[in-house]
Amino acid sequence: MFTVLPALAPDPILGLSAAYREDTNPNKIDLGVGVYKDENGNTPIMAAVAAAQTKLLEQETSKTYITPQGVQGYIDNMLSLILGKGNTAVLADRVAAVQSPGGCGALRVLAELVKRATPDAKVWVSDPTWANHIPLIGDAGLELAKYPYFDKASASIKFDEMIDTLKQVKKGDIVLLHGCCHNPTGADLTKEQWQSVLEVAQQTGFIPFVDLAYLGFGDSLEEDAYGLRLLVDNLPEVIIAASCSKNFGLYRERVGLAAVVCADSATRKIVQSQIQSVARAIYSMPPSYGGQLVNIILSDETLTAQWQDEVNEMRDRMKTLRQLLVTNLHKQGSSKDFSFVEQQKGMFSYLCIEPEKVREVREKFSVYFVDSSRVNIAGINKNNVEPLAKALVSVL
Ligand code: LMR
Repeated sequence: MFTVLPALAPDPILGLSAAYREDTNPNKIDLGVGVYKDENGNTPIMAAVAAAQTKLLEQETSKTYITPQGVQGYIDNMLSLILGKGNTAVLADRVAAVQSPGGCGALRVLAELVKRATPDAKVWVSDPTWANHIPLIGDAGLELAKYPYFDKASASIKFDEMIDTLKQVKKGDIVLLHGCCHNPTGADLTKEQWQSVLEVAQQTGFIPFVDLAYLGFGDSLEEDAYGLRLLVDNLPEVIIAASCSKNFGLYRERVGLAAVVCADSATRKIVQSQIQSVARAIYSMPPSYGGQLVNIILSDETLTAQWQDEVNEMRDRMKTLRQLLVTNLHKQGSSKDFSFVEQQKGMFSYLCIEPEKVREVREKFSVYFVDSSRVNIAGINKNNVEPLAKALVSVL
């Protein structure tokens, strides 16, 4: 019966990792999937996570089922982390939340929840957005639309056009926003721009859906939550998907959070029951291991401080790599001014070069990054930056 199905092209991001693994060129460079790498190209287990694993091994006495909402301590700690300690919506019992299998799990569960509540709601996503937003939300049966976001020619946000489009969004429609470190462009809204988005949401009644996958990789763990907190503090309803893949380095453990800020406590109870029923219908309950690790870290002052230092170190290193790339590109005589790369934030930069050039640099030099021209900054290091810059300049 399955012969009726067509074979599909590889995933635009994960497919690159497979192609990279198969490439036998010893000088290949991987700037594809969004995974942090150290100077030696390794993705180490963070020291705070390793310490939490040791503690968990000592403490855990059973592998019996957990509940559909996941590890409650994890949920409470994550809400404090992303919304700030003592957040008024949390204190007013207005926030429904479940631990989810990664940020992807959160996005899907929340899309299914929206579908249950308002099947006709359109979900507006930035143009461009993370490639996997489209199937995660679209396959839940929701209609997608795009709002203008990034101008490749000037390598900057088209904010006026974005706002003009958002002003046309219908009440009850959903607008997906990247909380920080926009994936794929690395171009983030300023505080003033977040304020304007808030005002348009207040005028039109659209519901923000904030995807927060890179908290701490932009400016700081606190500053990166600015936009999300502004919306949560000033709107009755906000939908939130958060991930611990990057900032805790827990990629394969699939640790995320799906949360909904509701208008009041009574609605919170309804939404909590609905999200849990969505989760039960898809995967029953989340894997507990990663959530327990994050819970151990965030429940312990010393481990929290250690983890924060590690996040700060990763962020600082990525900032240095941005400078290193720009300097090397200019040193190799690039006619294109790449200084915008230094202004972009987080793990990704959009090099604003054509897909044919991206494929050419892959074929000729085994440099792997997404066709859109998104590069994973963390894949750069002192040894590969010069050949990388040479390869890029030679195809441009
Ligand atoms: C990325 O954008 O590269 C990451 O979020 C990994 C993924 O699943 O696509």
